[in-house]
Amino acid sequence: MAPANNNDRVERIAVVAAAQNGAIGKDGWMPWHLPEDLKRFKSLTIGKPMIMGRVTFEAIGKPLPGRTTIVVTRDRDWTFDHDRVVVCHDMADAITKADDIAIRDGVNAVIIAGGAQIYRLALPFTTRYELTEVHIDIDGDAFLDPLSPMEWRETARHRIQNPDGPDYSFVTLDRR
Ligand SMILES: NC(=O)c1ccc[n+]([C@@H]2O[C@H](COP(=O)([O-])OP(=O)(O)OC[C@H]3O[C@@H](n4cnc5c(N)ncnc54)[C@H](OP(=O)(O)O)[C@@H]3O)[C@@H](O)[C@H]2O)c1
Repeated sequence: MAPANNNDRVERIAVVAAAQNGAIGKDGWMPWHLPEDLKRFKSLTIGKPMIMGRVTFEAIGKPLPGRTTIVVTRDRDWTFDHDRVVVCHDMADAITKADDIAIRDGVNAVIIAGGAQIYRLALPFTTRYELTEVHIDIDGDAFLDPLSPMEWRETARHRIQNPDGPDYSFVTLDRR
């Protein structure tokens, strides 16, 4: 099925690290330290507009350098005084703004950067997942919904051995 608000020029890539049981966060943060994953997150996202929920944005506390952040909130009074922070109040509007910024900045993708509510809201618009599967079950309080193999085709997989914690795999899933 074609994604909603199809834009052939711009991929919408959800970048997310999830435990085997789908957990992506605990107490507002990510319950692991995966150095290679941080490097991969940076290389996948640098220069690209990122759509982020207000909760995740406030947990980070500031826009990540070299990226415009589109913060999604229902709160009409919420503001953040920074020239690379844009506020949106619904997902379709956030996608349109992010697509426009990507085209303006000459990049071919928009990043869906979480958290759980934002991955869920953005699902109809998402064309690719760059998923880090963390090979552990954890006690989380934010979860990624299961991705149906009927809708998502695995196109790449690379396992990282981690001497200091759980192994993890970088997995690319493209919409069928
Ligand atoms: N593992 C990963 O890759 C990864 C990545 C990112 C985040 N996380 C984790 O995910 C967790 C946070 O996820 P979360 O689901 O609690 O929060 P979130 O998705 O970051 O943000 C939720 C907020 O988005 C806004 N929102 C939700 N639905 C909306 C709608 N229909 N229209 C407008 N605004 C809407 C609301 O903001 P207002 O309340 O302001 O209205 C809501 O509180 C944390 O634990 C974080 O560490 C994990």
